Formats: sequence, structure tokens, C-alpha cells
Amino acid sequence: MTTITLKVNGQSVTKDVEPQTLLVEFIRETLRLTGTHVGCDTAQCGACTVHLNGRAVKSCNMLAVQAHGADVMTIEGLAAADGTLHPMQVAFNQCHGLQCGFCTPGMVMSAVDLVKHHGAASDESVRAGLEGNICRCTGYQNIVKAVRSAAAQG
Ligand code: FES
Ligand code: FES
Repeated sequence: MTTITLKVNGQSVTKDVEPQTLLVEFIRETLRLTGTHVGCDTAQCGACTVHLNGRAVKSCNMLAVQAHGADVMTIEGLAAADGTLHPMQVAFNQCHGLQCGFCTPGMVMSAVDLVKHHGAASDESVRAGLEGNICRCTGYQNIVKAVRSAAAQG
């Protein structure tokens, strides 16, 4: 076991973890933050996307010990403390950017990173920016619409 300390959704967390524990397992099973999903476990679908030090990462693709000292945000930490949804969450809702919702937490976390660092100037750039996130319901057009709508609201 290794002791790690990190920030998760603004709160400091110290836990003992096995060296082989994936960050996504730590988030879901140790912290019980089950909004972060596991679709493939092999870094292909993006369902497990969280923010690590402000950038989107696939949390099935790194070990929990690698997050020692980091600032992690999961989908549970995206809304304001009073429950007000993040503009990206509102846009997904308004634009019907989800069907079953399985990919949605990862899509939203990736989309927030995309808009913050690259903007959303065209449908093509949004599609390219989100190519690491797969929607099995194939609702891509409304997802693109949602991301561009959130970006337009600044
Ligand atoms: S579960 Fe991590 S990319 Fe699919
Ligand atoms: S909404 Fe079902 S997987 Fe994307």
C-alpha cells in the first residue's frame, strides 16, 4: 500500500492505495464518486474522463499513485457549490446532447477542457476535439450543438 494525498473536487483526500490501482478505480470504488464511468478500461472510449490539474485525462489510463499531489475534478465537482449547473451541463440538457447518458460525464469533462483551451469555432473542430470520446448512442450532432452553444455563451 502507498499513501497518496490529492485534492478531489476541492477537498483534500488522503488514502492508502495498492500500487496497481487505476485512478478510475480509486475515484469510483474508494471515493464512491460513480459519476465517472468505465466503458472500456483501455483508454479508448473517454467515459472515464476527469480533469487532472485542469486538463482532461482518461482516468483508466493512469494509476492512482500518479495523481498524488494533483488537483482532480470529477463530474460531481463541476456544478457550483449551490447546485447551479455548469454552462456545459445546461447546454447538454437544452440541446438534448445525451440519450442513455453513459458517455455524458466524460463528454462534458472533455468538452469543458476543449472549449477552455481551444474554443469551439466550428462543428469540425468540436468533432476533432472530442474524438477520444465515444457515444454508443451516436448522438454526436446534438453533442456538437451543445458544446458550441456552451462556448457561445462564454
Ligand atoms: S473507460 Fe477509460 S477510456 Fe474507456
Ligand atoms: S448518450 Fe448513450 S452513450 Fe452517449
